[in-house]
Parts: sequence; structure tokens; C-alpha cells
Amino acid sequence: MSLYDRYVLAPMIDRMCGTREVMDIRREVVPLAEGDVIELGMGSGLNLACYDPDRVRRVTGVDPGENITALARERIAACPFEVELLGLSGESVPAESASFDTAVVTFTFCTIPDVYSAISEVRRLLKPGGKLIFAEHGLAPDDRVARWQRRINPIWKALAGGCHLNRDTKLMLEEGGFRLDDVRAGHAMPGPRIATWVTRGVATTR
Ligand SMILES: C[S@@+](CC[C@H](N)C(=O)[O-])C[C@H]1O[C@@H](n2cnc3c(N)ncnc32)[C@H](O)[C@@H]1O
Repeated sequence: MSLYDRYVLAPMIDRMCGTREVMDIRREVVPLAEGDVIELGMGSGLNLACYDPDRVRRVTGVDPGENITALARERIAACPFEVELLGLSGESVPAESASFDTAVVTFTFCTIPDVYSAISEVRRLLKPGGKLIFAEHGLAPDDRVARWQRRINPIWKALAGGCHLNRDTKLMLEEGGFRLDDVRAGHAMPGPRIATWVTRGVATTR
């Protein structure tokens, strides 16, 4: 892990992902989680305060990022429910099939290198009828914005820990075998329009 990753990127992601607007987006969806939850890309644990402790039994976080997850320790310790954090990639999770009631993925499908494997892993891990709760920034519908997203993506990706600006969340989930039950999308955060189109909602397996 580089010094940039540890001293610049991890604290910057924690700050940018913890703004009031981003926390408001989390609060739209994360409280819908229930039972045994798998959270891909737990990062610095910003979702933990948004779970409904009366609905959640246990949260298993999966994230290979040592520097960012180091920032989650205090948030995990403050949780009124059980939290386990595994330093692993979301593309392959050593857990039994159909063992989770809910999967939560926020601002992470943008970064996971083999995103279709991760989506398929989420499908495998969810119980029949289980829900995927998600909130992701991604490809904007406006052609001009989308063109800039594609242009800037290589530089952005290099500086932002592998994050893509131009992934189409809705399309990826549908191609990955999910039905989108309840979805909202829009420029939901302050900042340049290439980075603020956020799709969030609930999906179930088809
Ligand atoms: C922008 S951060 C978002 C963190 C957190 N989900 C949130 O909403 O604040 C992206 C996260 O994806 C994680 N990540 C990167 N590659 C991953 C992979 N293959 N599997 C799971 N998580 C991954 C990173 O370590 C980082 O914590």
C-alpha cells in the first residue's frame, strides 16, 4: 500500500463520502437492510450509523482496502449490533450460498475491478427473496456529461483508487440478473456533474 493511499486517498474518501449530502443518500436506503447483512466494500464504515439496529442482526463487511478499513475501527466498536470485517475482495467471498438476507453496496461497484463477478457473488450469497440495497455514482444520461466521464475516466481512476466515473449501475445490475424494484437517480451530490449522478434503490434476484 502506497503512502498516497494511506495518507491522502483513504482520509479523502472518508471525508468525501461522509458529507451531509452523501450521508442523506445513505439514509434513504441503508435503513431498509434487515437480518444478516453482507456489505461489500465497507470502507471506513460510514454506513454503520445508518443501519436500523432493530432490524439488523449482524453485518459482515468485505473490503480488501487496509488503509480505508483502518478508519472503520471506531465506528465498528460503536455499533449496537455484531459487525465482522473481512479483508477480502468482493469478487469471491468465502461464505455459503444463500446465507444473507440483505446485501448493501454503496459507492463500491464503481471501484471493484471485476464488477460482474462481484454482482454474481452478491446473487449467490443472497437468500431467495433477499434484497440488494445500493447507492452508486455512475454514468450520467446526459450525452455531454457522459462524454466527459469517458474522457476523464483514466485519470480519475488512477487518482481515485480504481474508481470508474462511467459505470452504468442500472444496466450492470440488470445484466447481472437483478430486478430493480425501487430506484431513484439524479445529480444528488454537490460537485462536478461527471461525479454526481447517483443511482440508489433496492434490487432483488430474478
Ligand atoms: C469509495 S469507497 C466506498 C466505501 C464505502 N462503501 C462507503 O460507502 O463509504 C470504495 C471502497 O471499495 C473498496 N474496494 C475496492 N476493491 C474492492 C473489491 N474488489 N471488493 C470489495 N471492495 C473493494 C475500497 O477498498 C473502498 O473501501
